[in-house]
Amino acid sequence: MAESSFRPTSFQPTIVALVCTYCTYTAADAAGSARMQYAATVRVVKYACTGKVEVRHILAAFEAGADCVMVSGCEVGDCHFLEGNLRAKERVDYAKGLLDEIGLSGRRLEMFHVGASDAPGWVRAVEEMTARAKELGANPLRGRLASEHMNALADLDLAVA
Ligand code: FES
Repeated sequence: MAESSFRPTSFQPTIVALVCTYCTYTAADAAGSARMQYAATVRVVKYACTGKVEVRHILAAFEAGADCVMVSGCEVGDCHFLEGNLRAKERVDYAKGLLDEIGLSGRRLEMFHVGASDAPGWVRAVEEMTARAKELGANPLRGRLASEHMNALADLDLAVA
């Protein structure tokens, strides 16, 4: 599948962030409390640990129309479940390969490690993925599959609750 060539100047990407509640979610909350300015492109799905993020969750987000997906967990060595964030990184790397194979581009997916006190790191990560989405253009599945998966993200929320 070829990259989308449809890139209107008004394109507002949708970024789905699958984040660990102990670190990145706290950082995102702190960024909001501090009224840090960043693109309003991100939808956060909270996990107990990024070790619970499965490849099918990532693919479901793309099927639902996400232009980019970011997984963000604790710093290496700080995972509350020891190696959950390392397992998440392996799954992200695997999913990147799948995205490359189907022509969606593995660059639409990235793993970050953002500690609880690193609100600026969260802002940088969102800005990086927003810039990538604008560079790559809209998810070509958007509008085709998205209408068939309107509730996919809601289902995902239920699956990880
Ligand atoms: Fe945060 Fe595992 S507890 S990534």
